[in-house]
Amino acid sequence: MLEINKIYNEDCIEGMKKLDDCCVDLVVTDPPYLISYKTNYRNNKKHKFCSAIKNDDNFELISNYIKELHRIMKNNTAGYMFCNAGKIDFFKQCIEKHSKKDGLIFDGFVGSGTTALACKELNRNFIGFELDKEYFEITRKRIKEYLNQKRVGI
Ligand SMILES: C[S@@+](CC[C@H](N)C(=O)[O-])C[C@H]1O[C@@H](n2cnc3c(N)ncnc32)[C@H](O)[C@@H]1O
Repeated sequence: MLEINKIYNEDCIEGMKKLDDCCVDLVVTDPPYLISYKTNYRNNKKHKFCSAIKNDDNFELISNYIKELHRIMKNNTAGYMFCNAGKIDFFKQCIEKHSKKDGLIFDGFVGSGTTALACKELNRNFIGFELDKEYFEITRKRIKEYLNQKRVGI
């Protein structure tokens, strides 16, 4: 079993193989949409969102993901998959309603870390994977800044 309360810069299918059966209390995840999504609504065309999300055309990945989710989730637990990047209040509502304080929440497609941050805010345990190094670093920084603000009471 991997250490929890960490995000791993790794392919989620490979990473999930290192998780025990029935260890996860709730899945809150925003997978690649399978639509080769990229926005044109940015002035800066070099912005990360102007290039396609990794694996956004890979149906097999999502099918393998669901199989692995089924293995790592405890019985009678919930899994939420949606396209809602960045809407932290929505993620928080979902986590608060469907998990307890010591629960382990999983997200195999961490991106900029909305699920991870929501878990920090709600004192839930978290484990997740992000393949893209740049997103991984953005999320690490985002969580570090959040924890620093919390420490100094901003
Ligand atoms: C829709 S975005 C997630 C958005 C996220 N909820 C947020 O708060 O930004 C999907 C993410 O999955 C990542 N991804 C794609 N294939 C992956 C894989 N095989 N393993 C882990 N992450 C992957 C992409 O790099 C992208 O950051």
